[in-house]
Amino acid sequence: TSACGTKTEEKKSEEVIKIGVNLELSGNVASFGQSTLNGFTLALEEINAAGGINGKKLEIIKYDNKSENTEAASVATRLITQDKVPIIFGAVTSGNTMAFMNIAETNKVPVLTPTATNPDVTVDPKTGKVREYIFRTCFIDPFQGTAMAKFALEELKVKRAAILKDNTSPYSVGLAKFFTEGFKAGGGEVVADENFTVNDQDFRSVLTKIKSLNPDFIYVPAYYEQVGQIVKQAREMGINVAFGGSDGWDSPKLIEIAGKEALKNCYITNHYSPDRDDPKVKEFVNKYKEKYGNVPDALAALGYDTAYVLAAALKNVKEVTPEAIKDALKNVKDVEGVTGKISIDEQHNAKKGLVILEFVDGKQTYRKFVEP
Ligand code: PHE
Repeated sequence: TSACGTKTEEKKSEEVIKIGVNLELSGNVASFGQSTLNGFTLALEEINAAGGINGKKLEIIKYDNKSENTEAASVATRLITQDKVPIIFGAVTSGNTMAFMNIAETNKVPVLTPTATNPDVTVDPKTGKVREYIFRTCFIDPFQGTAMAKFALEELKVKRAAILKDNTSPYSVGLAKFFTEGFKAGGGEVVADENFTVNDQDFRSVLTKIKSLNPDFIYVPAYYEQVGQIVKQAREMGINVAFGGSDGWDSPKLIEIAGKEALKNCYITNHYSPDRDDPKVKEFVNKYKEKYGNVPDALAALGYDTAYVLAAALKNVKEVTPEAIKDALKNVKDVEGVTGKISIDEQHNAKKGLVILEFVDGKQTYRKFVEP
């Protein structure tokens, strides 16, 4: 053939589509980032094995944001200015994603988060305007918070809820608010609304206060490291009422920290259950187990589905530019995933159902499905 060296090289770089990955691979919520990356990688390997997208292979450039806002922002800057990626996948948490959404908007590079559920991630609460470059493939927290309120009132038959939230986390603050609205609307009373911060380890004094107010339910919309300590310490103090939680509880670490005894009478809202009787879910669980040796959690499932959402968008992109990917993401419709059918709506969210899970013997056990 007549192609010279440089031409071949040029061609090579055209043959891949770079995907920037900004994830919590270490730090406070490390298990979130690791599971998400595992699920995402599994799907990318499948997509590449099937020939890639329009002849191009997908290649990730990944950095660890250490579960920190400042680091998530510098990772985003690095991906955009140094690696010149046309799309960023991540972050997991709402706070870490919000830490770089403005950087992405200013540089006009789209962001696709599989997991950040706070409504403000895709819509600016001050103007009500949709953030042009930010997209997600998960449901949002008004749905998650009110679903738990309804479940607590109707199925657990509780009436006096206490809330314990991380007031440094927009995710936690948002969920507390949505739960409160739903719980009050359903006739319940919120008897306490207490705070902690992300570095707290000892929750005994705030739990003493909560105990004295005699709630019959405690809602803790937070992440597993703190939740594990809270539930463990509460049980040690003789607080035996039901706990309600959110997707942030979803980590194998939670069971290690709290112990399965303490997790009895705990219920959470989540994106998926590996126990669902669906051939697509079964196939995913088996493939994942074979590759990584454990059962995929919701983060792995969302990472997996989000790769297919991205693939669906990229298929419709003629020239791979951030602008074209952004436009294609807007039009993603009906991607059949293991977490449900995914369409990106006008608010750049995905409308999907959720599951309510109960910890039985330390295992998240399917209780019910809630329609969107
Ligand atoms: N929804 C969480 C947030 O916005 C992240 C998360 C998703 C955690 C799924 C666990 C499982 O911060």
